[in-house]
Amino acid sequence: MIAIDFGTSNSTVGLATPQGPRLIPLETGNLTIPSAIFFNLEDDKVQFGREAIAAYTNHYDGRLLRSLKSVLGSSLIEESTEIGHERISLKDIIGKFLAHLKALAQLEAGAELDEVVIGRPVFFVDDDARLDRMAQQQLESIAKACGFKQVHFQYEPIAAALDYESSVSREEIALIADIGGGTSDFSVVRVSPRAQRKTDRRSDILANSGVHIGGTDFDKWLSLGQVMPHLGYKTHYRKRGELELPSSPYFDLATWHRIALLYGRKTASELKEMHLLAGKPDLVHRLLRVVRERSGHQLASDVEGAKIALSSAHEVSLSLPYVDEHLQVTVNSLDFEQGVAALTEKIGQCIRDCVRASGVGAEQIDTLFLTGGTSSLPFVRQACASAVPHARMVEGDKFGSVGLGLAIEAGVIRARS
Ligand SMILES: Nc1ncnc2c1ncn2[C@@H]1O[C@H](COP(=O)(O)OP(=O)(O)OP(=O)(O)O)[C@@H](O)[C@H]1O
Ligand SMILES: [Mg+2]
Repeated sequence: MIAIDFGTSNSTVGLATPQGPRLIPLETGNLTIPSAIFFNLEDDKVQFGREAIAAYTNHYDGRLLRSLKSVLGSSLIEESTEIGHERISLKDIIGKFLAHLKALAQLEAGAELDEVVIGRPVFFVDDDARLDRMAQQQLESIAKACGFKQVHFQYEPIAAALDYESSVSREEIALIADIGGGTSDFSVVRVSPRAQRKTDRRSDILANSGVHIGGTDFDKWLSLGQVMPHLGYKTHYRKRGELELPSSPYFDLATWHRIALLYGRKTASELKEMHLLAGKPDLVHRLLRVVRERSGHQLASDVEGAKIALSSAHEVSLSLPYVDEHLQVTVNSLDFEQGVAALTEKIGQCIRDCVRASGVGAEQIDTLFLTGGTSSLPFVRQACASAVPHARMVEGDKFGSVGLGLAIEAGVIRARS
């Protein structure tokens, strides 16, 4: 059985083998693969992960898509994007990515594998149970269309808990925090060395919670707040009184999974008109250039790089020659932390809700287990730690814990059947 952690930013694939659970190498020895796909029109092939990003960065003619997990449960899933002379639905693009992971796992296992356990956030969609159910159904039908006959799901933080549990030497109550690219997910779980052999863990799972906030939302804030104003965001029309230019192209450019949607012919003519009527055409010209030259993912990736650098620097200077030859944008950690404070607070609130729902006092939580790339941000860690003041902090494998836990889960499912 295969285990797939299909992440907003990165994915991993695990196998339950007779020797135990393990992650498999996906790309030149790497155990992770960016959730990226490139339709290379020049070489007429589809590329995945780092190879996809490299082809895009090297200016091959084609279309890059990233963060597609974010469209599950939204109307975008049925939308299609222009790729060369064809239109392909986002659903089918996710299908191609999952099929690639399946093929890699089969190559590694040397056998056809048609059963899978896929990780899912506690909520694909916040505050709407119907859309949330729909998101899982969409993922299930995509997996079935790839040839999986049986599809199981497990919450991502529960998977991370199973990974953590494999290292404990005594019974503990742990708060598992998985703060990734698209969502932040939490579980309060009783873990113990003996419990690993149990096939029914329901009584050990004390609470789950989640919120649709992750690293891509922090990227979006940094982009809209600090970079897009240099491309005309929040500027006005020349006439039409004080009317602001439409924010949607800026919003799309700052939202990983919407970038490719800007590259259709309709948007190109709308942007031209916006440029003609703009009060600051020199700034809007930069927006047109980014869209025309398909540099949206380059920009998003540079903004993400600046965000990561702000984890350990007070100030970061971004040079953006593909926007404008001499454009430099400086961002600082204090503005960033203050700007995203409302998002961080929502994450903190979600943890407190999870602890409250568990029926265990915050002071009784023994361990805070952190995983997911966004758990590297110092103020996010602080928000987690302050919710469980007596807990010891354990850092898991930030990008591998969920996938490995899903491989453990795959072994448990097999033992049960
Ligand atoms: N050192 C770092 N500091 C801050 N953020 C980081 C760091 N390293 C990675 N990230 C961010 O972590 C996110 C990716 O984390 P991860 O791979 O855990 O997410 P994911 O599993 O793909 O997403 P999800 O589980 O939400 O679907 C990205 O937003 C990335 O920018
Ligand atoms: Mg994840």
